[in-house]
Amino acid sequence: MRRHPIIQMVVIGAIASAIGIALALWIDWFPADAADQAAPIDTLYDVLMIVSVPVFVLVTTVILYSVWAFRMRPGQENEDGPPIHGNTRLEVIWTAVPAIMLVSLCSYAYAVLTDIEEKHANALVVNVRAVQFAWSYSYPQEDGRPVSSTTLMLPKDRPVLFKIRSEDVIHDFWVPAFRVKIDAVPGITTEVRATPSKIGSYPVVCAELCGLGHSTMRSTARVVSPAAFDRWLADQTAPVAADDGGRELSQDDLIALGRETFAGAAACGACHTLADAGTTGTTGPDLDRVLPGMSEDEIRTDIVDPDAAVEAGYTAGVMPPNFGETLSAQQLDGLVAYLATVSK
Ligand code: CUA
Repeated sequence: MRRHPIIQMVVIGAIASAIGIALALWIDWFPADAADQAAPIDTLYDVLMIVSVPVFVLVTTVILYSVWAFRMRPGQENEDGPPIHGNTRLEVIWTAVPAIMLVSLCSYAYAVLTDIEEKHANALVVNVRAVQFAWSYSYPQEDGRPVSSTTLMLPKDRPVLFKIRSEDVIHDFWVPAFRVKIDAVPGITTEVRATPSKIGSYPVVCAELCGLGHSTMRSTARVVSPAAFDRWLADQTAPVAADDGGRELSQDDLIALGRETFAGAAACGACHTLADAGTTGTTGPDLDRVLPGMSEDEIRTDIVDPDAAVEAGYTAGVMPPNFGETLSAQQLDGLVAYLATVSK
């Protein structure tokens, strides 16, 4: 039985590798794909599995087999021969084989990367804004008034260039169905490209631990037909929020602006429940519960200086202390006016 240990190891290793590869290819690692970038990435992933599973299995087999077959029995303590040093042929082989594998895989991965990051002249630019703990999107328009949205609307089959910025800490923009992902880093703009290929709704996830609300930092990418996208874009008049031209707003307009800011630019609903806005966030206090009885001044203080008085059971610093600064004066006034009407 111990006469052909190498043959035994090779046979066990080959069977285990075959099972491992079959298992690796059988497991559905990723959600349904929805972008042109997905297929080459999935193939790359499968190839990496096919190559790396036998390496892992081979090493494991040799170790486990040796521990079992060549274990020392009582009385064999002195049977070990002298240590062996230097085997040029072996060293050349175990240096050359991994080197060839690594260079081949890196070249292949580089080719895939070049392919999925190909630039397109007609790419749709979408500015992605990350803030604890919400995503928002804006679509630059020719008239200079960008269209803002908390849903990532995308036309099918048009290459998209995402430009990602963070307002506070490091986040990571990830659309699993597109396979692509990139960090959102404060102070720089990162870019990633994808060409949506299937109509449907797909989760947008934050893939970098960014604070207590990290797991709630999600939004939805909706891929629609190009015609539906154009209609949606046309329907979005430039948001009132962008219009801060010093003009006095009526109380009703101010409240409307506040309602829009709550849902849109400020994305309060990502963390707060408010029945009037139809939001169900649980990272921060339930506004339906805490708002009643609060004055406008108290509401304003809670927005611009959230740590001044923290609701029992919640932690200071979760709501960004500079939150008020991310809003225009008019947006802030609107938000206060809107929440004051809800509190009554
Ligand atoms: Cu943002 Cu995790």
